[in-house]
Amino acid sequence: MRCIDEISASELKGKRVLLRADFNLPLDESGEVAGIFRLKQGWKTVQYLAERGARVIIVSHIGQDPEQSIEPVARAIQKFGKVVFVPDLVGAPAQDAAKAIKDGEVMLLENVRRDPRETENDEAFAKGLASLADIYVNDSFAVDHRKHASLVGVPKLLPRYAGLLVRDEVKAIDAARTPLSPSFAILGGAKFESKAPLIKLLLEKYDHVFVTGALANDVFKARGLPVGRSLISKELPDASILQHPNFLAPVDVTVERPDGQSHVKKPQDIEAEDKIVDIGPDTVAMLAPHIASAKFILWAGPTGMYENGYIHYTQGIAELIAKSDAQKVIGGGDTIAAIEKTGIAQENLGFLSTGGGAMLEYLLKGTLPGIEVLS
Ligand code: 3PG
Repeated sequence: MRCIDEISASELKGKRVLLRADFNLPLDESGEVAGIFRLKQGWKTVQYLAERGARVIIVSHIGQDPEQSIEPVARAIQKFGKVVFVPDLVGAPAQDAAKAIKDGEVMLLENVRRDPRETENDEAFAKGLASLADIYVNDSFAVDHRKHASLVGVPKLLPRYAGLLVRDEVKAIDAARTPLSPSFAILGGAKFESKAPLIKLLLEKYDHVFVTGALANDVFKARGLPVGRSLISKELPDASILQHPNFLAPVDVTVERPDGQSHVKKPQDIEAEDKIVDIGPDTVAMLAPHIASAKFILWAGPTGMYENGYIHYTQGIAELIAKSDAQKVIGGGDTIAAIEKTGIAQENLGFLSTGGGAMLEYLLKGTLPGIEVLS
């Protein structure tokens, strides 16, 4: 995989670069951008290319609704630099804009998933996108687990490079696949069946693996403990996980009663009306020495339902991690959104991945379709 920092500035000058970014940013109720983490992380590549005189044509998806326009992102980008929004993908407006763009200028095309051929990985659509540019740059780590036209089709048609963010993500997550010992991993989220292979891999590679979030409910259930109204996966962990010497699960939990009140309990005391919404203080105390002594910490997934206000123990874990001198890699799912709510300075938390599902898949497989095609 070659990165754009291996192309000389003279070679970049005047080149049209199709930059596949992941500016899939959260939107608020009024339809405006509600979080700019991915934009901030991705902007350095845009800037790097523009400063060297490249003509930058950004393409990204946004949201789950194919009708959604990416225009709110175009507005949010203006805080970083001047970008022209072109509400088209492969039609005449995009072709004309790509011809007219000047050295150092930046334009943003419409939500690439507005054209169904993107997710179908359609060859003609990939050709249309490729025809806009001389070079392809993939800086969209968070969506590189998808086999879509702008990710795996276009790079087959143009000289292809990784952007600075993809370079950094790959380096950080490669390090998380071969952690320094003592190593400590925290894995949260739901759907045990989709996380089982990763849990097994982490148990092989890490000195301790703590399973939290809704995955911990599955652990209690598999151990024959009561789980009340808690979210449970289709499959449950087996003995190879539960009895693994490196495996850790919460020793206490926060439960919510139907009246909205919350209480801390031991797992064996959970009642039929309880819903597990977070870990408890004894669990944070149990984890503290592991976090303090670790040389490598991987954290993917908040401990509780932070979106419903249960952020206290995620905050506790984040504070312990912020104090640690370990090499740290954090990301996956909602972890960054949860951390943003804690207000803890991001620079104390090590490498923050933009990837949700992509980070977990890269951890498991050591590559992603959008990255493999760059080699
Ligand atoms: C994400 O938010 O995880 C990425 O942007 C990928 O989005 P997707 O799950 O809609 O493909």
